[in-house]
Amino acid sequence: MDYKLEIAKKINGFVDMELDKVIELIEIPPQTNMGDYAFPCFQLAKVMRKSPNMIAIELAEKIIADDIAEKAEAVGGYVNFFVNKKEYIKLMVQEVLEKGERFGSSEDGKGKNVIVEFSSVNVAKPFHVGHLFNTMLGSALEKVYKHSGYNTIRINHLGDWGTQFGKLISAHKRWINEEALEREPISELFRIYVKFHEEAEKDPTLEDEARAYFRKLEEGDPEVTALWQRFKDLSLREFGEIYRMLNVEFDSYAGESFYSDKMDEVVQMLREKKLLKDSNGAKIVDLEQFNIPPIMILKSDGATIYATRDLAAAIYRKRTYDFYKNIYVVGGTQSLHFNQIFSTLGLMGFEWSKDCVHIGHGLVKFADKKLSTRKGDVVFAKDVVNEAIHKTTEVIEHKNPNLENKEEVARKVGMGALLYTFLKNNRDKDVVFTWEDALNFDGDSGPYVQYTYVRGQSILKKAGNIPDTVDLSYLTTEEEFQMVKLLGAFKDSVKEAVERYEPFVVIRHVTEIAKAYNKFYNSHPILNAEDNVKNARLQLTKAVGIVIQTGLGLVGIETPENM
Ligand code: ARG
Repeated sequence: MDYKLEIAKKINGFVDMELDKVIELIEIPPQTNMGDYAFPCFQLAKVMRKSPNMIAIELAEKIIADDIAEKAEAVGGYVNFFVNKKEYIKLMVQEVLEKGERFGSSEDGKGKNVIVEFSSVNVAKPFHVGHLFNTMLGSALEKVYKHSGYNTIRINHLGDWGTQFGKLISAHKRWINEEALEREPISELFRIYVKFHEEAEKDPTLEDEARAYFRKLEEGDPEVTALWQRFKDLSLREFGEIYRMLNVEFDSYAGESFYSDKMDEVVQMLREKKLLKDSNGAKIVDLEQFNIPPIMILKSDGATIYATRDLAAAIYRKRTYDFYKNIYVVGGTQSLHFNQIFSTLGLMGFEWSKDCVHIGHGLVKFADKKLSTRKGDVVFAKDVVNEAIHKTTEVIEHKNPNLENKEEVARKVGMGALLYTFLKNNRDKDVVFTWEDALNFDGDSGPYVQYTYVRGQSILKKAGNIPDTVDLSYLTTEEEFQMVKLLGAFKDSVKEAVERYEPFVVIRHVTEIAKAYNKFYNSHPILNAEDNVKNARLQLTKAVGIVIQTGLGLVGIETPENM
């Protein structure tokens, strides 16, 4: 039952306003004594030429009490609606139990293809904590879109092309340690890459050699191509370990190299549209009319670059997926780049450029100096991931040494702690990471919410079978009503997360549910209550478990059965 819709329908009969607009205006009052839904009359005041107060009073009088709302009250320009608690609890708990993991889903996105590009790591380069944040955010975003009925396509736009591969090949010929390459590919490739730069300072001819290798790669020279492919395979093998830990998957790994043969067409189109301009031998597109610097398309030696590949990628994506939205989850530092790409696509006459969105995010900073920063100031994602699991294992060994599936639980809880830490705030905010904060399982944290779920499941296990027909009207306390209201608002939080591209909204909401459940648990008996009450509370416990599990799942946090 969509209560907001039902309330809106009641209002709609008496005012001159579209139903959708009424729904949009309905608010959840900040305090429970102000009712469960409120309709502000301020917008109506202009058209009706009456004070909001007057409108609210007249409207409240017209509303007839029924099973949906038992009371409507006018207060300061608002009409406050009080739902029929008994009915509300019954309908909502039933709905959760019926829908299960589909609860909170919608068909808003039916028939619409949405591309979510995220992670987009670089072959032979570190998968650093910034990429980790990005991967978590993008994956969560994809999940909330999917839950809202969109057909999503997850793309990992790999950084696997460009002049740096010429350097790597040259460095490989000179300094590679094959054994280290097999064992720890990224570290070894990064080591020789850094070495290349040091050596090239002393001997500039190395740069020429690297350029020549990249040209060979572009021409498809078999030996050089095989080496590049090996770098890519080894890198993906290592990245795959992190994706497995996070339970993240992709539908496509079409990265920069995929577009290496699709750029001529782009350059051709730009030329035909007379958008290419000369600038010291390089080719650029002027973007002055948008008040941003020009975008480079071809370097003076005729080589294409990152931006050229992004233009080709956007066009390819439109042709292949006919997207409704093409979302780029990429750090905020690249916002100018995407502004340039989208503006250029617009100049090329692609009306769909307005459907391309850059979703930026903050940086990851470290408060503790102790965090292992191997090689310069890059913090490797795998170090953070492994450490989180390791530290969680220690906590489990200490608190619950006889736990079954310790390894699996440690992964779920360790990753849950990290995901929560990275995703609990507005995505634009920098993440200031400390282990103390990430592994504090008591306050607002992934493990706290996971633990609430586990507690509920263990009550259900202890209870054994619950009868098929349970009378939910035995759920009569205020705590129970408030908790069910939070379950009812879950759908709105998913919707808000989609609209704002902010998965944290869902995290916050499940945290509220967990807190409400713990509060209830601490003040009312469940297993020791009288049979009718007990059974109703067990059903409620089941419903809470479903919503917590679903909500955590949307941000990538898995729920263990024990912990
Ligand atoms: N590989 C790049 C990096 O690590 C991010 C790629 C972003 N995506 C894109 N379509 N340009 O910084």
